[in-house]
Amino acid sequence: MRALETWAIVVAAGSGERLGSDRPKAFVKFGERTLVAACLETFEEHEGIDGIVVAVPEGFETDMSLIADDIGAGKIAAAVPGGASRAESVANALACLPGSAHFVLVHDAARPLVDDALITRVMHGLAEGADGVVPALPVTDTVKRVGPDGAVSETFERASLRAVQTPQGFPVERLRSAIEQAGAQLAAATDCASLIEAAGGRVICVQGDPRNMKVTTAEDLARALELAG
Ligand code: CTP
Ligand code: MG
Repeated sequence: MRALETWAIVVAAGSGERLGSDRPKAFVKFGERTLVAACLETFEEHEGIDGIVVAVPEGFETDMSLIADDIGAGKIAAAVPGGASRAESVANALACLPGSAHFVLVHDAARPLVDDALITRVMHGLAEGADGVVPALPVTDTVKRVGPDGAVSETFERASLRAVQTPQGFPVERLRSAIEQAGAQLAAATDCASLIEAAGGRVICVQGDPRNMKVTTAEDLARALELAG
């Protein structure tokens, strides 16, 4: 019997304001390639991934197909225009998944150093029946809630805190219905798992990877390049 299909959505439609480049962040150079090409190669090469849909900024569909050709990414089924927020970009890409897609892994193009082993850990979590699977790392800083006036109102108990990464995995239908249920709250979601949590689903953690950092600022880009070696 054929295994249930697992697809990847790579969200690459952000503008990259904090990076401050002359182009959208995903299309910024990363060594010989671009940030988006680096992570697409990893999903392309993972044997458990059946297909990929990429959300790109309006007008970047052609750039994306050139990149796909360049890296020989035959699994990329579509490049769709993203939305105004990350979650809306995910929703646009989700609408393009084929009916055969049972699980989906949603990944930020801003994390170029995702590796095979991390993708496999998320897929194993899904096979165990969770509604959502997130790669997580312990938090080393103490985290506080601070008001607009700079006054601290709360300090969180660090031992129970985790910093979560992507790829985050879901049964496609779970993510679809969580997005529908979110309604007007959708735009505010900074990750997909929070939508599943809000809908009452069970999200589990698998071991994250410190190398799988998110490129937000120019300093992050330099550090990611160093890590890439
Ligand atoms: N993203 C997206 N569509 C949006 C906003 C973000 O597809 N409307 C994607 C980004 O391309 C990125 C990921 O979501 O891969 C995480 O977002 P973030 O790191 O915030 O990237 P940007 O929004 O591009 O950066 P900034 O917030 O600095 O503008
Ligand atoms: Mg952003």
